[in-house]
Amino acid sequence: MINLFQHLREQAVAAPLIELLEVVTNASKEIAFRVRHGALAGVLGSTQDENIQGETQKQLDVISNQLLKDLLLACPHVCAIASEEEDTVVAGNSAGEFIIAFDPLDGSSNIDINGQIGTIFSIYRAQKNLAANDEAQFRQPGTQQVCAGYVLYGPSTLLVITTGKGTHTFTLDATQGTFLRTAKDIQIPPDTKEFAINMSNQRFWNQSMRNYISDLVAGESGPRAKNFNMRWNAAMVGDVHRVICRGGIFMYPSDNRNPKQPAKLRLLYEANPMAMLIENAGGKAWSESQRILDIQPSALHERVAVILGSANEVETCLGYLR
Ligand code: F6P
Repeated sequence: MINLFQHLREQAVAAPLIELLEVVTNASKEIAFRVRHGALAGVLGSTQDENIQGETQKQLDVISNQLLKDLLLACPHVCAIASEEEDTVVAGNSAGEFIIAFDPLDGSSNIDINGQIGTIFSIYRAQKNLAANDEAQFRQPGTQQVCAGYVLYGPSTLLVITTGKGTHTFTLDATQGTFLRTAKDIQIPPDTKEFAINMSNQRFWNQSMRNYISDLVAGESGPRAKNFNMRWNAAMVGDVHRVICRGGIFMYPSDNRNPKQPAKLRLLYEANPMAMLIENAGGKAWSESQRILDIQPSALHERVAVILGSANEVETCLGYLR
C-alpha cells in the first residue's frame, strides 16, 4: 500500500502543497487521538461560548480549531486561514502561497454520543495583490480550489482527498501514524435508492422539494416506481462519506424556518470542499439553481443549499426544482 505522500508525488503535486498537507494531517492525527480517548482525554461537553454563527461551542470544536490554527500558522506556506470557529480571517505568512478554509470539527452534535465527526478543509492559492488578512482572499469560487478533503473520525480514521485528479481514500495506520491509500479513483454510482435529508424540516421546504421527497417516499407504487431508503447521520462528513462509498443523494435544501438564514451549510468549508470531492468522483453537487463550485462567495461564513451525490439522482431532484 502506498502512503499519502507517495501518492501525492505520484500525482505530481508540488512540494509546498505536500508540506501543507503534512501539517493538516498532523493536526488531524492529534484530533483523532483526542477523539479516540473521549472522556478520558477530558474533551467532551460544551464550553460557555458561542461561535460567530451563534452555535454553542463544544470543547472538541475549540481544541480542534486551536490545534489546526497553531500548526497551520506555523507553516510558511500558509498565507491565511478561515475557520468555522473564527469570526474573521487570520493572517499567516504574507509570502505563503496558500490559503485554507476549514471546519475543524464537523458534526458537533455527534461528539458526546461517540458518533461520526470530521475535519473538512479547502485550499486555494493566495492572491498576491491582497493583504493576508483581507477577507477577499477567500472570495474565490470553488473551481479555484487546489485541494479539498475531509478526515472522518469514525471506527477508522480516514482521509478522503482530491487535488483535482480523482478522489482517493487513505486509512490511518495508527501504529505507524501513516495514512495509507485504501481506495483509488473512487466512482460514485450515478443511480441510487438511498437519500439523506433532515425530514423534520419538511414543513419549511418549498413545494417542489416536498414533491420530490414525497415521490421518493412513495416507493414502488409512486411515480419513481422504486423503493428508496433513508439515512441521516447529522454530520455532513458521515453522510457524504456514505455517498462516496456507495452512492446516494444528500440534501440540505433552503427552507423558511428563519428568514435571516435560508440555508444551513457553509459554502467555504462545507459545500465547496465536498463538491470538489464529489465531482472528482463522478458525482454532481448543486445548490438548487447553481453548481456549487461556480458560486462567487460574498462572505466568509456564507451559507448555501446543498444537493449532492449520484449524478442522475441529483439531476432528477433538480428537475423538480426548475
Ligand atoms: O455543520 C452543520 C451540520 O452539523 C452538518 O454536519 C450536518 O449535515 C447538519 O449540520 C445537521 O443538521 P441538523 O442538525 O439540522 O440535522
